[in-house]
Amino acid sequence: MENQIEIKIRQLAKEKNAIILAHNYQPPEIQEIADLCGDSLELSIQAAKTSADIIVFCGVLFMAETAYILSPEKTVLLPNPDAGCPMADMVDPAALTARKKALGNIPVVTYVNSSAAVKAVSDICCTSANVIRVTNAIDTDEMLMTPDRNLAQYAAANTHKKIHLWEGYCPFHNNLTPQDVAAAKAAHPKALFIAHPECPPQILELADSIQSTSGMIRFAGESDKDQFILGTETGLIYPIAKAHPNKRFFPASDKMYCLDMKKITLAHVLDSLENLTGEIKVPEDIRIAALGSVQKMIDIK
Ligand code: 13P
Ligand code: SF4
Repeated sequence: MENQIEIKIRQLAKEKNAIILAHNYQPPEIQEIADLCGDSLELSIQAAKTSADIIVFCGVLFMAETAYILSPEKTVLLPNPDAGCPMADMVDPAALTARKKALGNIPVVTYVNSSAAVKAVSDICCTSANVIRVTNAIDTDEMLMTPDRNLAQYAAANTHKKIHLWEGYCPFHNNLTPQDVAAAKAAHPKALFIAHPECPPQILELADSIQSTSGMIRFAGESDKDQFILGTETGLIYPIAKAHPNKRFFPASDKMYCLDMKKITLAHVLDSLENLTGEIKVPEDIRIAALGSVQKMIDIK
């Protein structure tokens, strides 16, 4: 039974021709009112092709910026503009440009978890779902990957290419330890361990499969096993358990809780739709440059 606030949000979204997108880590009540939930790649593709006038992005700043980069004619709303990504803040355009120059202007591959300004000085973007495809599609054997050193090491281990690292990381994925994984495996000995590529290499070595968030949901559905330990942010437990009600899911560690991903409430979504609060824009010169990197990624099938 829907509450008044949820009914009001759905009504307003219809009246204003708005689409509500939610990342897989968002709180359950936000995922429930969304038109579409997904991983970063799915949400950017959806943002690019929707015919809605308004995109309400329930995620963090870089996701709403990416939606605006792809659809500047639309109003893009981030219901709580305080929702950022600590990893995205670990790289800035000036430092990145200097490093690229020092490395002889090799291509820069930038994880979508980055600011529009960083995307603007990059050659191509990637997500956790397509990082190997993107790396292989680049026509040089050497590149610099930002900001996630763990994602870059994962890509390097799966291609023959030389990948220079940037020293960024997701504090929540990076903090998962082999001891945490061993404890989760001891508690759930029949479970497979699925890890996100933002985890450090010593964790990925222990994984039965390495997947993006939506990749984990698909993998669990296709597997003949019925128990899984998830090496990712604990918000994923909700959509994965909903998608596979006959299977069981356990967090690799309760420490993997991203505060920024929990900053949006239903009250924020309602206020945002009612008053168009939290509008996200990017200066046009930065948008055009960043669009080059994002579009190149989307065009890789
Ligand atoms: P994906 O959903 O693309 O796997 O990304 C994880 C993430 O950290 C988003 O902030
Ligand atoms: Fe950023 Fe990590 Fe939070 Fe994703 S889970 S938004 S990468 S801090």
